[in-house]
Amino acid sequence: MNTPRTLGTPLSPTATKVMLLGSGELGKEVIIALQRLGVEVIAVDRYPNAPGHQVAHRAHVINMTDGDALAALIEQEKPDLVVPEIEAIATDKLAELEQAGKITCIPTARAAQLTMNREGIRRLAAETLGLATSPYRFASSLEELAAGAEAVGFPCVIKPVMSSSGKGQSKIDSAAEVKAAWDYAAAGSRVDSGRVIVEGFIDFDYEITLLTVRSLGEDGQVITQYCEPIGHVQVQGDYVESWQPCRMDPVALVRARDIAGKVTADLGGLGLFGVELFVKDDMVWFSEVSPRPHDTGMVTMATQVQSEFELHAKAILGLPVNVALRAPGASAVIYGQHEAAGIAFEGVADALSVPNSDIRLFGKPESFARRRMGVALATADDVETARVNAKLAASKVKPVLAK
Ligand SMILES: Nc1ncnc2c1ncn2[C@@H]1O[C@H](COP(=O)(O)OP(=O)(O)OP(=O)(O)O)[C@@H](O)[C@H]1O
Ligand SMILES: [Mg+2]
Repeated sequence: MNTPRTLGTPLSPTATKVMLLGSGELGKEVIIALQRLGVEVIAVDRYPNAPGHQVAHRAHVINMTDGDALAALIEQEKPDLVVPEIEAIATDKLAELEQAGKITCIPTARAAQLTMNREGIRRLAAETLGLATSPYRFASSLEELAAGAEAVGFPCVIKPVMSSSGKGQSKIDSAAEVKAAWDYAAAGSRVDSGRVIVEGFIDFDYEITLLTVRSLGEDGQVITQYCEPIGHVQVQGDYVESWQPCRMDPVALVRARDIAGKVTADLGGLGLFGVELFVKDDMVWFSEVSPRPHDTGMVTMATQVQSEFELHAKAILGLPVNVALRAPGASAVIYGQHEAAGIAFEGVADALSVPNSDIRLFGKPESFARRRMGVALATADDVETARVNAKLAASKVKPVLAK
């Protein structure tokens, strides 16, 4: 039987220590949630002053894809829990350390391994679990890609197997565009493995993230709970707005939960997952899953009794969680618009004068034109009003170059 953790005092011998691997805006909020429970938090990222570094007890800068560097830091810090917050990590090393009983990885090292590569999670979902997905092929050469595209049909979507936030991803309508898609994927891949997935394009009505939480129930058994579905809009593979609850056909909702239940049960462990699904009428396709809080779930900071970050923090500590909705709401992304370090934000007061709105600025040291630097949140009696207000609040925040 699993038991909830006894929580200690940070910076003392009783401390409950959690190490975040990746300390971006999502990690920052998980850290804040852990801090509120008196957990000692160690934030790790590949660059100094990452958002999560700024709110943790200790900050480290390492190359997390370097297994030896990762193992050395874990040995030095001896965390009770290791919490991957991004995909680009030496997950094989995490699996080795977990196997040797040296770490507890959230939710499991295997989940981190499978989800860092599209091939792992897609084969698990479609071939092992038999879940509905887009038709797909994997390819390691231009010739294989051309054959794969013919097999899944046009239009189709090509993505590097190791990439996120839409990097290297393109949609094509004909065989003539295959070469350009191959070259684009090679440029956008995290690791130039030269391997891509080509997926048949799903003409969905809408897409959702179903936040799914595995936590300990009263009897010490793992229970699975589902947040209200989150609708979102993606531009170039990157989320620009999200809302909750997303109205759904009741049959589709049952199917969505069934898919999320199956995939998270297989990945195992404790914590929150973001299950990405495509929906058309009552049909649902599994797309992918994050074994951690999801960017589109930032809306839950406004809409839920416990945000996705609090849910993750509590679930991983073996504590009970509450997935209830507080109010309908929406989020809208604030982009950097400039390529510069140390930018400033004008118009924050105007943004906050939008009814029932709030904003988060992540504190990223460097801005890029399409880098997510903040998010606007809004609640309302209905999702439609919340969406209008979140976008309005986001539009009032003006990133400017330092004078
Ligand atoms: N087969 C498909 N059919 C239709 N749309 C798709 C398909 N694959 C991807 N998309 C669109 O592109 C978006 C991004 O795709 P996907 O989630 O696979 O990429 P990603 O790089 O992992 O993005 P993120 O890291 O932001 O989740 C999806 O949310 C969806 O809007
Ligand atoms: Mg995605």
